[in-house]
Amino acid sequence: MPRRICSFCGKPEDQVDHLLAGHRGVAICDECSRLAVEITGEHAFEQTSGDLLLTGIGTIITNDPRQDGPVEEGAIAIRGGNVTWIGEQRTLPSRYRGLITLDCGGRSVLPGFVDAHTHLVFDGDRADEFGRRMRGEAYESIMAAGGGIQSTVRATRAAGPDRLLEVSMERADRMLSLGTTTVEIKSGYGLETLTERHMLEVAGEIGRRLPIDVVSTFLGAHAVPEEYAADRNAYLWLLEEEMLPAVASAAAYCDVFCDAGVFSVDEARRVLVAGRRHGLRPRLHANQLGDTGGLELAVEMGAVSADHLEHVTVRQAGLIADAGVVAVLLPAASLSMRTAQAPARLLRDAGATIALATDCNPGTSNVESMQFVVALGALEMGLTVEESIWAATRGGALAVEEPDKGWLRVGAVADLHVLDTDNYLDLAYRPDQSHTWKVVKDGQVVVG
Ligand code: NIG
Ligand code: FE
Repeated sequence: MPRRICSFCGKPEDQVDHLLAGHRGVAICDECSRLAVEITGEHAFEQTSGDLLLTGIGTIITNDPRQDGPVEEGAIAIRGGNVTWIGEQRTLPSRYRGLITLDCGGRSVLPGFVDAHTHLVFDGDRADEFGRRMRGEAYESIMAAGGGIQSTVRATRAAGPDRLLEVSMERADRMLSLGTTTVEIKSGYGLETLTERHMLEVAGEIGRRLPIDVVSTFLGAHAVPEEYAADRNAYLWLLEEEMLPAVASAAAYCDVFCDAGVFSVDEARRVLVAGRRHGLRPRLHANQLGDTGGLELAVEMGAVSADHLEHVTVRQAGLIADAGVVAVLLPAASLSMRTAQAPARLLRDAGATIALATDCNPGTSNVESMQFVVALGALEMGLTVEESIWAATRGGALAVEEPDKGWLRVGAVADLHVLDTDNYLDLAYRPDQSHTWKVVKDGQVVVG
């Protein structure tokens, strides 16, 4: 279970007399509560919830296109979970000086990471398969022989909802402690109605129990399950007629693994169209294993995002950019697959909006850290560190249609990540470390 800490001073439950729990994992210890009463003259918790002043910030990466680069020697005022003032501290209006204050001691602040592509609800691991891949076996041949996704499906079906929640919460909690404040979570390891529904319920429950926002995606078309191997059409019928009606209320998006040896363009279109009938907006796994038409389908459907995109030409980069489909790139998956990275520079130069995400899954990217992904964006994909951070924050927010996240300006959701360094370049320069000092979600200190 996640640790419970005071959201203001960060002390864990066992080191304070009493911890008063608020909504969404926010809590306040009696000492901070007393201090807040002293400052505001009112009783604490409701008053202080989501109100905070950050001072002494060395560098703020705002991602605000109206700002000319980062803000130096900055401060950020937050009220009711939203940014109400941001700028150089010397110009901070005096009306904010009464807020509970966190002195950042010259550290850097970024928006919280928005991890726009994960499969973090699963049981079992595939370390053996990973070892085989490292000895030279191909992902596709392991998948064709009944391993890969199918082996995680077996473990996930066997787990039951309680265990699934427990192991998935642990993953989400580690992500939060590394600076992720919004996470997209896909189903797709159930491949039958009940387990797909359970996966989406677990995803929703994570968002209620932890101070992390969850965006849920139905990925029943992740693979054709073993029991339907001889009749794919029957599985597609099940997806349309039974699964989608049963899961649609628990998801916002519908996704399909449209790629070589998985679902064809026609099959993927059928699932996405059915998803849309149930109110689920389309996104797509496309052009990871090969160029089989997924990218063009994402454009045709007006998908919110096309994800992976390792196999993309200049012409296709232009198509994605013109259609306004966000390119969600997953460098940790290519690293684990020992395959070429998606052409991030090409896509960016074509004008596409790029997001970077973990793809957290037990097969191709057993990775939870967006800090590591930012490092890969710079070190492996040719992005600058600034572009990589933008893609992991603002790019991610656009990929999950959360326009008030991923940047820091007046009105934005106050999700932010205080690094333990005064130089944000350390995210890629010292890629083996966690650089989190504190994480603030909706104006509350929830980590650190
Ligand atoms: O995004 N590409 C499809 N799905 C996952 C892999 C899933 C798995 O191997 O379990 C991915 O890489
Ligand atoms: Fe994926």
